[in-house]
Amino acid sequence: MRVNLKDASERLLVETYLNHILTAQSDEELNFLKHKLIHTYEVVEAAKDLVKYTQPALSQRDEMLVLQAALLHDIGRVYQFSEGRYVPDADHGLMGAGLLKKAMPNNKTVIETTKWHNHSPSEKDPNEVAFYLNYVRDADIIANVRHNTDNLLTVFKNLKNIVKKSELNLYLDDELIAAAKEKRSCIYKRYKRESFLQVILQQIGWKYNILTPAGKLLVKQEKIFVRLRDAVIDKLVDVLDGSIQEKQDMKKLIFELYPDEVLNED
Ligand SMILES: [Fe+2]
Repeated sequence: MRVNLKDASERLLVETYLNHILTAQSDEELNFLKHKLIHTYEVVEAAKDLVKYTQPALSQRDEMLVLQAALLHDIGRVYQFSEGRYVPDADHGLMGAGLLKKAMPNNKTVIETTKWHNHSPSEKDPNEVAFYLNYVRDADIIANVRHNTDNLLTVFKNLKNIVKKSELNLYLDDELIAAAKEKRSCIYKRYKRESFLQVILQQIGWKYNILTPAGKLLVKQEKIFVRLRDAVIDKLVDVLDGSIQEKQDMKKLIFELYPDEVLNED
């Protein structure tokens, strides 16, 4: 993963992030920006993989638009903090689109994919960019799942200092269990973070949010959700709060909720 400052889109991204990093008003903001910049390049990697998995191959123009849209999708994250404090309701898609409208007013695809990428797919998706939007959403999911699988304990350690003690338990709510059994992603009316375990396990349900044929193929071939499940069982459960018996029971339950044959299903 390397930055290419000869490319105008990369220059815009890096310049925008660097300016905000240099003026960050809290350690939390600084850390957030660092992680989002790394995340962005992981999404680009995932988008490149999706391009490779696409049959028949994308045209050069489409490939370029997919990669550009992936690169710029989270540019609005630089506005997620105000005076050093996280603003949960700030719509980073919308704010990113506003920035792009000024910086590259003729690139409608990138403006619109950025604007809509953080919303669930719906009839509101602008038709002309839906194709690229689906690539961005899939790349975002794949990058997050890969990152959390490969860095699960680091992600956990970073969060451990900021989450409440109660979030280190082995709690899973009814919606997560129902979603796993019904083979769908979780739907929360009001999302309430009750355990870190639940936050991570819920991501296995993102399997059902993958939209492109290339994404479905990649997920299957690289077994990304099987690997996430195994990382949770092999690494995470042991470091959470609970007795040996409770941890064993939880590992068994996770296996039952997310068996290989379901995770490898089309
Ligand atoms: Fe993202």
